[in-house]
Amino acid sequence: MNHFEYGPEGLACEGAPLARIAAEVGTPVYVYSRATLARHFTVFRDALVAAGIVDPLVAYAVKANSNVAVLKVLGDLGAGADTVSEGEVRRALAAGIPAERIVFSGVGKTRREIEFALRAGVAEINVESEPELDLIARVAGALGLRAKVAFRVNPDVAAGGHAKIATGKSENKFGVSFAEAARLYANASNNANLEPVGVACHIGSQITDLAPMRAAFAKMRGLVEQLLAEGLSVERLDLGGGLGVPYFNNPEPPSPADFAAMVGEVTKGLPVKLAFEPGRVIAANAGVLVSEVIHVHERPEGRKFLVLDAAMNDLVRPAMYDAFHDIRPVIPRTGEAVYDVVGPVCETGDTFTRDRVLPPFAAGDLVAFMSAGAYGAAMASEYNTRPLVPEVLVDGDRYAVIRQRPTYDEILARDVIPEWI
Ligand code: LLP
Repeated sequence: MNHFEYGPEGLACEGAPLARIAAEVGTPVYVYSRATLARHFTVFRDALVAAGIVDPLVAYAVKANSNVAVLKVLGDLGAGADTVSEGEVRRALAAGIPAERIVFSGVGKTRREIEFALRAGVAEINVESEPELDLIARVAGALGLRAKVAFRVNPDVAAGGHAKIATGKSENKFGVSFAEAARLYANASNNANLEPVGVACHIGSQITDLAPMRAAFAKMRGLVEQLLAEGLSVERLDLGGGLGVPYFNNPEPPSPADFAAMVGEVTKGLPVKLAFEPGRVIAANAGVLVSEVIHVHERPEGRKFLVLDAAMNDLVRPAMYDAFHDIRPVIPRTGEAVYDVVGPVCETGDTFTRDRVLPPFAAGDLVAFMSAGAYGAAMASEYNTRPLVPEVLVDGDRYAVIRQRPTYDEILARDVIPEWI
């Protein structure tokens, strides 16, 4: 469920009409519903608890939507944070998420990032390779600390979905094999600078079938049992993120309750705490991208282009993954027309969709890209020197700009002409 409904002033986010926000803040603009964010987090966590999972750590995947205000909404409800860079760790800390609820993942953490995370005292660093483990041990040794580490295992399970976001096959760059994990775990437990606390997996994103997850989690259970049988201490099993959301054109994904019931079955009786790293399922349907129609350009051969003021730099998912986003009129319109919906960026790839049946639009109309709260603003860039898209958070009928649109002066001030030119 989300909180984007039509009211007397057209499509609204909770009690705030999108047209009003667009008039005040300008377009393009991302708009998020606090109530939806809170609801998605609570539903996810409560489903786990209802399935018998005691005190789960729900570490929201910051990469999905990293705005500090969004993180604060979730952190205040008890969310932890799954982070993949020093920047994300800093964002989570700035949002008030305690370090003991922060997981630091990522394939190529630098020495500096590891040092920062260790000093901050994060709950665990998810180790992706043997060289990384060695680096963490050296950095922890130099700091006189004991690093809490968990091993990210690549369960070699195909999760379906788009190839660019599948991570769980052994040909992908992520994680170590089961055999390596067992060996490294035992080694680490004999290293004074390392404290192995668990194992982790994450097999992909936008997963709409529980079968591959079940297969991966069952293998992870086997690994935990093996480590425990070897007398090693295992506190936590981190099952990653990946649960899909409905984008209107794809199979209805399993609900958090279905997911939780499956996890409950697979992990029943396992004497470790569970952690999760959901991103999309929390944020995607909590946000929309509002954009204005600049022109309707009709080609002589009949093709109609809806040229928007939003582009691939603001929402890259369609260009990058052929992703589908529902497009709705902010003010309801009757009738139908077939459009190619494009942005102003100078690339053919700057196409949101082709041959989409939509209501008829005219220049100046507002459209909303639905389900854009995850991997939308977080992946935006300033390509074509288009100012970074702003973000607004709604709470009932009040709202606030939670990331400003930069001015051109700010953008230009970042570039430096060396004195020798
Ligand atoms: N944990 C790890 C280690 C991850 O790599 C990811 C996502 C997550 C958790 C969160 O996954 P989620 O619950 O959101 O599926 N930009 C792409 C998605 C990339 C996902 C990368 N990893 C998109 O727009 O579809």
